[in-house]
Amino acid sequence: MRILAISGSLRKNSHNTALARAAAELTPAGVELELYQGLGSIPLYDADADAESSPVAVEDLREQIARADALLVVTPEYNGSVPGVLKNAIDWASRPPRGGAALWGKTVGVAGASTGQYGALWAQQDLRRILGIAGARVIEGELPVARAHEKFDKDGSLLDAQVAERLRAHVDTLVAEAAPAPVSLAA
Ligand code: FNR
Repeated sequence: MRILAISGSLRKNSHNTALARAAAELTPAGVELELYQGLGSIPLYDADADAESSPVAVEDLREQIARADALLVVTPEYNGSVPGVLKNAIDWASRPPRGGAALWGKTVGVAGASTGQYGALWAQQDLRRILGIAGARVIEGELPVARAHEKFDKDGSLLDAQVAERLRAHVDTLVAEAAPAPVSLAA
């Protein structure tokens, strides 16, 4: 199984990107989690540019989402919601609507880190709603990481064992939700 992690922060020392990297270390056997690297190259959504062919960066985003069995979207909180760069990427990935969109029916988990005391909870709640409207299968629950500047070292390694355990459980739930249903052998 392959999970694509999308961090909603472009910042080099982003706590959210560090959280996505930590998730890659905690996946169960047989599950690979890869970090999407192209967010900063995606142009602002323009329906005219999406008419026949789409920008190369957008095609790449859509292909990477389509190839993944599940997504883990990790968001900062900006003014109580999702950063514009992340919303913009979701808008591109939500088109064409219904069965044609890369996001349609995709199993998605959300997580988030902020330096505040609520761990980007509002952003994650908005993100779950946005992804649901775009047709994704969003798994229950958020993973708020509060006071993120205290949870990672200067190299971005996760220091907090409780956060690591919550993250592992969150990834396990995502994997279980994305796994194909077992085939019944009953006659
Ligand atoms: C923030 N931050 C923030 N934090 C929060 O908990 N609630 C909020 O509403 C906001 N609003 C906000 C707006 C803007 C424009 C910025 C730049 C920042 C702080 C934010 O959580 C903190 O900068 C995180 O570290 C950003 O995530 P990355 O870049 O570290 O992943």
